[in-house]
Amino acid sequence: MTATPSEALLPIVQAGDPVLRYAAVPVDPSDLARRDVQQLIARMKATMEAAPGVGLAAPQIGEPVQLAVMSDGPERFSHLSAADLAARERTELPFTVIVNPVLTPLPSDPAMVGFYEGCLSVPRLTGFVRRHRVVRVDCIDEHGEPRTWTFTGWPARIAQHEIDHLRGTLYLDRAETRSLSTVENYGELWAGVPTTDVAAALGFPTDGSR
Ligand code: NI
Repeated sequence: MTATPSEALLPIVQAGDPVLRYAAVPVDPSDLARRDVQQLIARMKATMEAAPGVGLAAPQIGEPVQLAVMSDGPERFSHLSAADLAARERTELPFTVIVNPVLTPLPSDPAMVGFYEGCLSVPRLTGFVRRHRVVRVDCIDEHGEPRTWTFTGWPARIAQHEIDHLRGTLYLDRAETRSLSTVENYGELWAGVPTTDVAAALGFPTDGSR
């Protein structure tokens, strides 16, 4: 199938570009009715899926506005074991667009969980990051409708990672730097290994991890 212009992929901005370090500006809700803005959202979705990734924030395609797309499902996580999926609470996240989000951590036991994550703007690396296990996101959607989402587990991690992008923060800023690993080494050495064992070998603390 030939890609239509709305599905043409966008280049993903890589770490070192200052656009990833700006605080993105709010989107004027009336702009969501514009054809070019809807086309941008469609192209972000296609770019995220092709990468493949589970989230993409507008600054990552060079647009410093408060808009991000997210999506996760078996096509992205079927390579993980049932135990890994359960530990991460990695569940299906239907395609979701968040615009002008406000993030609120919600009480949970445990409040924080730590796992390895990566970023399309930081290729080849993965690192251990503690995040809130449950969060609320108040935002508007791609049609300008107010939305309140509650995310738990991996979807909450995705939302926090993408909203960080809108504040000029990369996961590297929150990662245990001693945990950093190439994706290749992670796959060869640590896939399926309890994080506590990875931490013991590499020498980083694991409070909040399983
Ligand atoms: Ni990212």
